[in-house]
Amino acid sequence: MLDRTQIQCIVEHHGKEIILHEHMRIEQNSYQHGVVTTFAHSIRVACLSVWLADRMRLWNRVDQRALVRSALLHDYFLYDWHEWDNGTHRLHGLTHGQTALLNASRDFQLGSVERDSIARHMFPLTLIPPKYLEGYIVSVADKISATRETLSLARFTKPRSRSRRPRMQHA
Ligand SMILES: [Fe+2]
Ligand SMILES: [Fe+2]
Repeated sequence: MLDRTQIQCIVEHHGKEIILHEHMRIEQNSYQHGVVTTFAHSIRVACLSVWLADRMRLWNRVDQRALVRSALLHDYFLYDWHEWDNGTHRLHGLTHGQTALLNASRDFQLGSVERDSIARHMFPLTLIPPKYLEGYIVSVADKISATRETLSLARFTKPRSRSRRPRMQHA
């Protein structure tokens, strides 16, 4: 069974290109749940996805690289959904999977497992389920991480204001 350090090495190994991409700075400056940035949330989801696949002994059925990359890119929508923006982000929960896919397809070479897992990670809120096992794992890991981050007491220490970098245009 993989330990924490081994899981982090796997995420770094398969996710280096994504983690080091300049647009990840936008994720580092956007809160996702409570005090957790979208970047930190994505790393957590990637680590938890690898942990789940490992503990369920799924490595003969799961593409490890596609799993890590899908998890790192599942919320690659590149805006702060808490910011008021003329109502544009009102349907964030329903639309951000597609926005993440558009942005990720522009910035990285994606395979079919990655594309489907990113687009459908909000199932069952969005009605179409993932096509691949990797997509189900990312979706479960996302919901576990989001619940833990939202319920964390650390959210009450969130700074009230912070400087932000200019936002990029969406694809
Ligand atoms: Fe999401
Ligand atoms: Fe997420």
